[in-house]
Amino acid sequence: MSNEDWLARTRAAVWHPCTQMKHLEQAPPLPIERGEGPWLIDYQGCRYLDAISSWWVNLFGHANPRINAALIDQLGRIEHTMLAGCTHAPVVKLSERLAHLSGLGHAFYGSDGASATEIALKMSFHYWRNLGHPGKSGYISLQNGYHGETLGALSVTDVALFKDVYAPLLRLSHQTVSPDWRLSEANESPRDYAERAARHLEHHLTRHAETTAAVIVEPLVQGATGMAMYHPIYLTRMRELCDRHHVHLIADEIAVGFGRTGTLFACEQAGIRPDFLCLSKGITGGYLPLSCVLTSDEIYAAFYADSTARGFLHSHSYTGNPLACRAALAVLDIFESDDVLRRNQAKAARFNELLAPIARHPRVRHLRNCGMIWAFDVIDAEPDFSARFHQQALLKGLYIRPIGNTVYFMPPYIIEQAEMNLMAEVTLEILQSL
Ligand SMILES: Cc1ncc(COP(=O)(O)O)c(C=O)c1O
Repeated sequence: MSNEDWLARTRAAVWHPCTQMKHLEQAPPLPIERGEGPWLIDYQGCRYLDAISSWWVNLFGHANPRINAALIDQLGRIEHTMLAGCTHAPVVKLSERLAHLSGLGHAFYGSDGASATEIALKMSFHYWRNLGHPGKSGYISLQNGYHGETLGALSVTDVALFKDVYAPLLRLSHQTVSPDWRLSEANESPRDYAERAARHLEHHLTRHAETTAAVIVEPLVQGATGMAMYHPIYLTRMRELCDRHHVHLIADEIAVGFGRTGTLFACEQAGIRPDFLCLSKGITGGYLPLSCVLTSDEIYAAFYADSTARGFLHSHSYTGNPLACRAALAVLDIFESDDVLRRNQAKAARFNELLAPIARHPRVRHLRNCGMIWAFDVIDAEPDFSARFHQQALLKGLYIRPIGNTVYFMPPYIIEQAEMNLMAEVTLEILQSL
């Protein structure tokens, strides 16, 4: 079967996510036959560097031998068993290790990122209800924040394109000023601007804490709206404010967890521990859908009772899937044995050097980096900038998808010098030609 055959069949049978299907007539998807490290390979044998880690999920490359081996071993034992009424070694071991790494003692599992958001929102409300405060049912999130596409997650998301159509179905929530440093005044440092944004949160909490269950935030990088980055002091202040006003802090590290921002969890850079930590994407190294909400023993204890209704009765059929948990354990093993976070620092420093010519390009603004995420904005971009950039990059062997006029890189951690060169060179060439 050729690329063209698969394209015809996908158009006829598959409804692709986040896509106006008619646009596929002009911009067909890439038919992928296999993957090898950071490379995606199509049915003609053409190779594309996966510069965005297959929607930010892949950490250690495609067809990683160590993750493959863990999964093959697990397949010989048990592929799936329900987690209500059963338990198994992979889920126990993973929960223990995540508790150790995060300082949050209990792990509740879902499948995708959005299901983790739903779980955290529901758990927070239910906690306050169990404590006799059912009026604490409101949520605060950041302007331009993104937490997923299910109705609860969309209620705290602030991306008009995804949200507006469904507005009649959604619960109102409050969006507070984003600490994105690009919004700072001239002569205002990112830190000062983050402090100013935190005062907006304070203002709202002072008035509405009694009816607020939780604040949900993407720590350090607001991904989906274009890799907006901000100073960690914002999270430190948020933690102080949440403590003072008896409101939960939900850290949505679905995109930024597992080393993306330079530390295993982004919250570490602010010296804080959230009440709920939502994880997904990189948790299985991009192998299988798994999400997890970690929470404190104190919150867990508020559900522990004789009454069934006080318990958290949420569930998904694939909760704690053993294969997904084995992949996640293999990912944690790689972090430990390969000193990944330290090696990423050296890679990031090298890539920053390679990006210097791009930073100097007259159409480039706000070149920014946080850990293994890079982004810049292109001024005077045409409305079809993203699609054209994507198509041109494909012709040069680079798989990259700008968000609006923001070009970003979020490569797997196994990229090496040659691949970094390719990302930087191809990007500069396209910038010159667009
Ligand atoms: C910060 C954040 N939260 C939640 C989600 C939703 O995750 P999923 O697409 O797995 O439902 C995403 C996805 O990009 C995300 O970036």
